[in-house]
Amino acid sequence: MIADIEQKQAAFAAAAGQAATPDQLKTLRSEYLGKKGFIPQAMKRLRELSPDEKRACGKLINDFKNQVENRLEELTQTLQAAGGKAEGKGKSAFDPTLPGRKETPGALHPVTQIMDEIISIFFSLGFDVEEGPEIESDYYNFEALNIPADHPARDMQDTFYIEDARVLRTHTSPVQIRVMEKQKPPLRIIAPGRVYRSDSDLTHTPMFHQIEGLMVDKDVSFAHLKGIMDIFLHEVFGKKTKIRFRPSFFPFTCPSAEVDIQCVMCSGKGCRVCSQSGWLEILGAGMVDPAVFQHVDYDPDEWTGLAFGLGIERIAMLKYGVNDIRLFFENDLRFLRQF
Ligand code: PHE
Repeated sequence: MIADIEQKQAAFAAAAGQAATPDQLKTLRSEYLGKKGFIPQAMKRLRELSPDEKRACGKLINDFKNQVENRLEELTQTLQAAGGKAEGKGKSAFDPTLPGRKETPGALHPVTQIMDEIISIFFSLGFDVEEGPEIESDYYNFEALNIPADHPARDMQDTFYIEDARVLRTHTSPVQIRVMEKQKPPLRIIAPGRVYRSDSDLTHTPMFHQIEGLMVDKDVSFAHLKGIMDIFLHEVFGKKTKIRFRPSFFPFTCPSAEVDIQCVMCSGKGCRVCSQSGWLEILGAGMVDPAVFQHVDYDPDEWTGLAFGLGIERIAMLKYGVNDIRLFFENDLRFLRQF
């Protein structure tokens, strides 16, 4: 019987070496492992043997069984890897007539698109791009911007405090200070980035994006501010868009203004989006307050500056007619594909 098994082992090895289709594997499996196959039958015959023979042959058959199982498994996997799914139909599973699978190309997020567009507009006006940290000290986020600890203006923004003197920056204005600390005027920079406020509804998310602008030179005036805002807003919303400046307050600019554009939904007639006013608030701006210059050792008698800050999502919402800011951060492809 031992000779018998050894002969079958050799036969199996030869056959396995030849097997190239799922069908052939199936036949091999039933020939060796199937109910009427060699191995189960040989096990039955063990009963007729003497105890010694039984032990020797039993071990041999068992080893053979493992060998066959492993080898068949190995062959199935190689077949699958080589030709798609081994379907057992005796033909290669690769079908060259099937249409190809489409690759969906990626695209930039609408917020990134608007951000890039705005950056390139200011780049063409001679502004350099600067960045600052999102975890900011109390000093840069408030103090140096003329917002002392008990100033009521701190209530204008719902701040995320990390520890006593550290916050998630509530605006990009701290970058103004960081830039002026390391550069001497004249300078012209914009600072894009993420900002954080504890606020969440249709038009607010706890994280959103701003672009800060700062220009310091001799004799920079409010007229420069108006001119730059005109160019920028006409570029983004179209040449015909009307623009107006409204007096406002920011502790770090004086005078301060809020800039409105004519409502993009109703062209100024009055609708729900603009609360019937015909105008949409689009950004905050003003002339740099001399108190801010003192924090960075700029001589306010020698230099004047203009600054502005705008929310990217707000501009994206108005430009594309999106009514819920949260859509920008849900990553629903049905929404994102439209841009
Ligand atoms: N930092 C202000 C805000 O977030 C915007 C602003 C920037 C206003 C620069 C004036 C000058 O609301």
